[in-house]
Amino acid sequence: MLFSNKKAKWIKRVLLSFLSFVFAVPTFAQAGEATSTNLETMLIVVLSFVLIVAVLILIIGLYLVNIIKMILLEDKKQKAVAEGKEYVPVEEKSIWSKLMNKATDAVPIEEEETVMLDHDYDGIHELDNHLPPWWKWLFYATIVWGFIYYFVYHVFDVLPLSQEEYAIVMEDAKIAREATMALAGNNIDENNVELSVEADVLARGKTIYDRECVACHAPEGQGLIGPNFTDKYWLHGGSINDVFKTIKYGVPQKGMISWQSKLTPSDIRDVSNYILTFQGTTPKNPPAPKGPEGVEYIPQNQTNEAPAEQPAEVNS
Ligand code: HEC
Repeated sequence: MLFSNKKAKWIKRVLLSFLSFVFAVPTFAQAGEATSTNLETMLIVVLSFVLIVAVLILIIGLYLVNIIKMILLEDKKQKAVAEGKEYVPVEEKSIWSKLMNKATDAVPIEEEETVMLDHDYDGIHELDNHLPPWWKWLFYATIVWGFIYYFVYHVFDVLPLSQEEYAIVMEDAKIAREATMALAGNNIDENNVELSVEADVLARGKTIYDRECVACHAPEGQGLIGPNFTDKYWLHGGSINDVFKTIKYGVPQKGMISWQSKLTPSDIRDVSNYILTFQGTTPKNPPAPKGPEGVEYIPQNQTNEAPAEQPAEVNS
């Protein structure tokens, strides 16, 4: 019998799981949504399919080789019997020991005489062994590798050298860091801050203003200890960039602290935009806006400015 009972069961199991896998594939592919992921899953499925088939073929092949060996052995035995001799199986060395023999080229102790030199150092003899082939293979391999390395890295510049690799990685890290910074709004500064009337920017700005600034600039921007924000007059400039800068660095000697350690750049952007919305409003609650301080700010670039139609002096 070709297959024993146990083996037959095992083969059946393998075949069954193989078939269920094959039938599961179309369902798999249909479940995918985007075509790219679909293609990827298909590729993985096909590759695993090929791998499984290859493994199966290998198993079957080994099995067949075994059978052929058995048949040949049987044949030899029969031949020996026919010739009236007793069959003596030749002891076959394992592939591993053959390989080891090849790799070490060791002379068996019984044959040491053949390589012994006639030097005799107080009874210590010298054997004229070959260099172990495994060592020579390694040596040749390093030479080959040296050539490959030389041509790949220095002649054809196919791959980056360590230093270039380092530069590339650093560059990638820089880009990634800039991206996260941009996401968090932390790359905003007085040079690139932009005017915004977006509702969420102003809402966040109001929250910060009500928490940090009302004490000195009053709830409606009419000014208290600090100057008012309702007119066009500014001590330190009225563009978004100026305002951002004043808030960021403060005017410590005049009682306006620097906020850059307490607020993030995006916070400062938000609150800057928020206080610009006070411009032109007339606060209902006293104290009435403090008188204008500083010089009138005339926007350079109309399109980039918040509307400021109100007369310069709100205060009567
Ligand atoms: C402790 C009081 C105090 C607090 C709190 C305060 N400021 Fe001021 N602020 C001042 C004073 C005083 C000045 C005037 C500085 C000067 O005379 O140069 C000023 C000036 C300013 C100016 C410049 C005005 C101009 O005319 O150029 C801006 C803008 C400003 N503050 C925004 C803010 C914001 C935003 C906050 C909250 C994050 C804030 N301030 C919190 C006291 C304060």
